[in-house]
Amino acid sequence: MGEFEEFGAAERAGWTDGDVAARYIAQFADAADQAMTGMIASVSPESAQAVLDLCCGHGAMTSALCARGCRVTGLDFSSAMLAHAAQRAPEAEFREGDAQNLPFEDASFDVILSNCGIMHLPDQPRALAEARRALRPKGIFAMTVWFGPDVSPSFRIAFGAMKAHADPSVSAAPQPDFFQFARRDVAEEMLGEAGLQVVTHDTIDCVWHLDTPEQLFKIYSEATVRMAMLLSAQPASAVEAIRQAMTEAVARDYAVDGGYRVPIPAALIIARA
Ligand SMILES: C[S@@+](CC[C@H](N)C(=O)[O-])C[C@H]1O[C@@H](n2cnc3c(N)ncnc32)[C@H](O)[C@@H]1O
Repeated sequence: MGEFEEFGAAERAGWTDGDVAARYIAQFADAADQAMTGMIASVSPESAQAVLDLCCGHGAMTSALCARGCRVTGLDFSSAMLAHAAQRAPEAEFREGDAQNLPFEDASFDVILSNCGIMHLPDQPRALAEARRALRPKGIFAMTVWFGPDVSPSFRIAFGAMKAHADPSVSAAPQPDFFQFARRDVAEEMLGEAGLQVVTHDTIDCVWHLDTPEQLFKIYSEATVRMAMLLSAQPASAVEAIRQAMTEAVARDYAVDGGYRVPIPAALIIARA
């Protein structure tokens, strides 16, 4: 049994649930789309290049890459997500598969991009090694990942409320550090071990624009897999206290022009094979 097998099974159960996929698309994808737009602008894949959208989800990046004239393949293990992606990017090819065991020949792609995908995998070193194998020599690998509570107001509000109000006797399944690639030294080491040399490690300034202060809690509790998992393991009284604390923090510190603006910065890592 792998180190994070229980966590991996829970991630798979979440993302393959059609309702979870639909809520992610409706509520969370706005921030991920901002990270995706920043990644494409920085990497700038060329027309006719073979590009893999790894953990493609509902196909927002797949579609943007097709619009640039790239030959795009989207891979995800969620048929629910892929059904949305196929509608959004009909000109792309899609494969249902596991990012840790890619169904592609060696050196199949000029560019591999993963937007908010790698941090969800139980065996990240293996996924990076697979990406390196599927990338042609000198090909480009790029990924985005959210910054953690030390940098990100959005995650600081969520984890601050969890720390203050969660029942500490409730433990989550062991899992990789969700934010580890946001640290340049860790990203360099982990990608380096897979044969990918980090070229740049930058910040993309993504932002939630919320109508109500309670919306941030709703996004994390309804439209994610990992945070929803942590919250659903808590007693109802703790969840209610977390909801209240998050709502108060957004109302107090992030009100602008009749709405609420909560930054959720992403790290963009660009590497070469
Ligand atoms: C946070 S979503 C990101 C989706 C999309 N890239 C975006 O920018 O919105 C994470 C995606 O990773 C996929 N995923 C998670 N683990 C996976 C795995 N082991 N293999 C393939 N896809 C996986 C999920 O199904 C989900 O679509």
